[in-house]
Formats: sequence, C-alpha cells, structure tokens
Amino acid sequence: MNASNKPRILTGDTPTGRLHLGHWVGSIENRARLQSDYDCYFLLANMHAFTTRADKAADIRNDTVEIVKDWLAAGIDPNRSTLVLQTEIPAIAELSWFFAMLLPFNRVMRNPTLKTEIEVKDLGDHYSFGFPLYAVGQCADILSFRAELVPVGEDQVAHIEMCREVARKFAWTYCGVSPEEDDANYVNQGSIFPIPKALVGRVGRLVGTDGKNKMSKSLGNAIFLSDSAKEIKKKVSQLYTGRQSMTEPGDIQNSLFQYVRVFIKDEARVRDLEDRYSRGDNIGDGHVKAEVAQAIEELLAPMRERRAEYDKPGGDDVVLDIIRTHASRANAVAEETLYLAKEKMHLAIGRRHLSFAL
Ligand code: TRP
Repeated sequence: MNASNKPRILTGDTPTGRLHLGHWVGSIENRARLQSDYDCYFLLANMHAFTTRADKAADIRNDTVEIVKDWLAAGIDPNRSTLVLQTEIPAIAELSWFFAMLLPFNRVMRNPTLKTEIEVKDLGDHYSFGFPLYAVGQCADILSFRAELVPVGEDQVAHIEMCREVARKFAWTYCGVSPEEDDANYVNQGSIFPIPKALVGRVGRLVGTDGKNKMSKSLGNAIFLSDSAKEIKKKVSQLYTGRQSMTEPGDIQNSLFQYVRVFIKDEARVRDLEDRYSRGDNIGDGHVKAEVAQAIEELLAPMRERRAEYDKPGGDDVVLDIIRTHASRANAVAEETLYLAKEKMHLAIGRRHLSFAL
C-alpha cells in the first residue's frame, strides 16, 4: 500500500499568489527538510481558492502553476514527493461529505482560523456556503492520505485540531475504537486513520517589512521567495524601527532583530549584533539591515536560480506534466483510503479505477 513504508506527510497551500518568507519559515522549510524521512504529499488547494474567489478561475489556475514553481525552487523534489492537485482527487470531495456529518455545524463555525479569516478578508455575513465547508474539506485533504504529520504555519493549527476530532469520531462511529483510546493506538485498534499531528515551523509568526503586521501578500509587507537581490535590499532597508542614531540603545525585540535571529545563520554573529545594538555601541540600523539583506539573499539566490529553469518558455508545460503524473500517484493512495472508509461505512460494493485520458 505505502510503497516506501515511511510515515506520510500531507500539507499544502491555497494558491493565492507567490510564496514569501513567512511561508518559508512557517512550513516550506520543514517540508523540504522532511522529504527524506517521510512519504510526502504536497497539496495545491485550488478548490479552497474557489471558496473566496469563484469568479477568478483563470487567476486561480495561474496561481496554482506559480506555487508549484515556488515549491520546486524551494527544494521540493518531484522525484521524492508527490504534488497533489486537489481538484483531481475525487476521494477528497467524497470524504468531505461524510466528514461534514461528523462535525456539529456550530463547531465548524467556532473554528478560530475561520473566524479570523472572515474578519481579515472582510467577508461579513455574505460569504458563501462553501467558505466554511473548506475547513471540513481540509480534514479530508489530510485523512485521504492517512497522513501522520502535517507541517503548517501557526494559523493552521486550529484546522488540524478539527481534523484530529474528525479522525477520532470516524473511528468511534465506524471502526469500533473506544473514545477512551490513546491517540497513538487508534490504528492498532482498527481505525483506518492515524490521528495526525501538526508540526509548526521554527517561526510561528514572521513580521512583515512594515515592522508591525504578520507578513502577508495582501498587506504589501512581504519579501517573496522569487524577489530579486535588489528588491530584497530595498524591502529590508524600508523596515521601520523608529531608532534615531547609532548610539541609541536599540530594542532587540524589534522586527529587524527578529530577522537577524531568523535569517543570520552564524550564532556568534547574531549574539554580537544583539549585544552592540542593545547598548547602542556605534551600530546603525542601516548596517544591521545590510547584513540581514545579505543573509536573505544567500537563502533565496539558489531558489531564484532553480526557478529560472521553470520560467523559461515551456516551463508551464513541465509543471503541468508533473501535476498530471503525480495525480495518478496521489489517487492510488486516496482511492484506497476511500475504499477502506466505505467498507467501514457499509458502502463498499466494489473497487473503481480512475485514469486520465492522456
Ligand atoms: N488552508 C491551508 C492554507 O491556506 C492550505 C491547506 C489546504 C492545507 N488543505 C490543507 C494545509 C491540508 C495543510 C493540510 O495555508
């Protein structure tokens, strides 16, 4: 079933635009690192993009291809990991229906990540029926692959918690697992789903270049993985600290110093900068910013180089080819899960086969 016998990871992104440094430290860095120890599935949540942008179908397709380029640039290896285009995996949509019956309506609406999104995106009370349904769908994304680990940014933890609830409820309802059972024993006790765990990146919340809000494309305070060296320099130099002079003792809890700690690799150098800055020992913000920009450039330069390969003419076709091939691999796993679930739900009547007409 699981050819590699490695535990599975499922995680992904909603295609809304280019990926930035907040995505990198929140999750992408973990994904790239964990590829050798896990059987990884990286989801392009294009169905979720439709929940708020159903009228922007062409943009969503573009954003989907762009995100794959960002992933490949960031070191996601298509020979080791499987890219999953959500709309090509029918098992996800089918399981979403059944999972929707295992969650009280009010439980979904209390999900804090959904609530924040409604506020931030100013959805008021006019969001679609499908909008909150995406949170149920996200449970199906993860469970379709029977994933054990879900590397995500901090904002996604509430969704993973809901997914854990669904996995338990399914096991109690259809697999005879006791509600007293330890999460770790569910599969032993007959559950088809492991109870998945979230893995949050080393930085939960990376501040944006406005020095205030969480880095986010819509706030215009993001450094993108595909930014040029010049753009990086410019954006870092605009980071506002409010400090007046090289001799003013600086606050090393400010956003500039979050960047220092996150992006400068040499620990001794970080301590030295913190020490001098906090004492106001003849060290200007401009100097610190230049070192930060240099460190970010060292991180992003190899990504930029890898990305250039896919930005050449024909690059989009290469990306689409990967997506298509991987969809077959992904469906092999998700269809198996769906069949196992159907057996438990007294719905199985025989296996079916999906294929693409290439
Ligand atoms: N909601 C996630 C985001 O916007 C994307 C996502 C969809 C996801 N399905 C997932 C992440 C399953 C982890 C697991 O970033």
